[in-house]
Amino acid sequence: AQSLKEAFKKDFAIGTALNSAQIEERNPRVNNLIVQQFNMATPENVMKSALLHPKWDTYDFTMADKLIAFGHKNNIKINGHTLIWHSQLPGFMRRIQSSDSVKTFFTDHIKTVASHFKGKVFSWDVVNEALNEDGTLRNSVFFQKLGENYVTEAFRLTQEASPNTELYYNDYNNEQPAKRAGCIRLIKKIQEAGVRIDGVGIQGHWHLGKIPFKDIEESILQYAALGIKVMITELDIEILPRNFQGAEVSQRMANNAESNPYPNGLPDEIQKQLADDYETLFKLFLKHKDKVTRVTFWGVNDGDSWLNNWPIRGRTNYPLLFDRNNQPKPAYFKVIGLK
Ligand code: XIL
Repeated sequence: AQSLKEAFKKDFAIGTALNSAQIEERNPRVNNLIVQQFNMATPENVMKSALLHPKWDTYDFTMADKLIAFGHKNNIKINGHTLIWHSQLPGFMRRIQSSDSVKTFFTDHIKTVASHFKGKVFSWDVVNEALNEDGTLRNSVFFQKLGENYVTEAFRLTQEASPNTELYYNDYNNEQPAKRAGCIRLIKKIQEAGVRIDGVGIQGHWHLGKIPFKDIEESILQYAALGIKVMITELDIEILPRNFQGAEVSQRMANNAESNPYPNGLPDEIQKQLADDYETLFKLFLKHKDKVTRVTFWGVNDGDSWLNNWPIRGRTNYPLLFDRNNQPKPAYFKVIGLK
C-alpha cells in the first residue's frame, strides 16, 4: 500500500490532528502528506471553546471553517473536537461564578457550535476528559455548577442541534481499569436516559515500552459490549520520561542544558522499540477491526507534535510515524507491513 489510509481502508479510518499552520498552501509538503495518508482529521485546537467562542456573545468560526474546507476538498472527514471540556475554556469563563451563567454558556455554546457545523462534521467529541483516574466525575466548573447530569445533557443538546452527527465521549487513561469502569458507568447513564451516544474515544497518549496492551484489549471488548464504536483518538508514543527525573539525559534537559536528547536523530534501538510498539498496537487494532472504527494520530509529523512542548516547553520529542522532514520512520513501515 502507498499510504496508511489505503492499507487500512477495509479495517478502520486513519486520522490525524490538524492545526491551521499545516493546511496553509505555503506548506505543500505537509499538505501532500496529509492528503496522501489520512481520511479523517480532528482539529487540534481551532474548535476548542477558547478559540471558537472568545467573548460571551462572540463566536469566530474562521479558522475552523478553513480547516473543514481543506478536509472536504481532500476527502478527509472531520471529527469535531470538542464541545464541553474543562480545559482551553474562554477567558471570560474564569470570571463566571453563578450556576445560571454557566448553564447559559453550556447551552448556548453547544447549540451555536453544533448548529454551525451541522452537516459539516462527521462526528463530535461531545464531552472530553470528564473523569478522574478513579472513575469519579472530575470536579470541573460544569460538574460544580450543573451537577452530574451535565454529560448526558451535553449529548442531548448536541443531538438536538445536529441530529445526523455521530456523538462520542473522549478521554485519556480510560483503558485503565478504574477509569474504564467509571467511563462505562457514564456511558450507561447516557444510554439509560434514552440519549444517543455512538462511540467512545481512548486518546492513546502512551509511553515507549510501557503500553498497556492488555488493558487496551480488555477496554475495546468492554466498550464494544455497550453497543458503541471504539476509537483510538489521539495516538502518540512518547519516548521521553514524563517527569525529567532519574536518567542523566533528563537531568540535562531539566537544567535546560540540552532540549534534544538525540541531536543526531533517534538511535537505532529506540527506533526499533518504537516500531515494535506501534506494530503490536496495530496488530491489536486489526484483531478487533469489527469494533475499532478509527485510529487517529495526534499530529502529522514529529515536528508538530504537542509533546515537543508539553508538559515542559522546548523539548524535542519523536512520538509519531513521520519524522521532522515528513519522511516515514521504521515504525511506519512496520505498521503498513501488517497489510
Ligand atoms: C492539546 C494540543 O495538542 C495542544 O496544541 C494544546 O496546546 C493543548 O491541547 N487531550 C486532548 C487534546 O483532548 O485536545 C489535547 O490537545 C491533548 C490532550
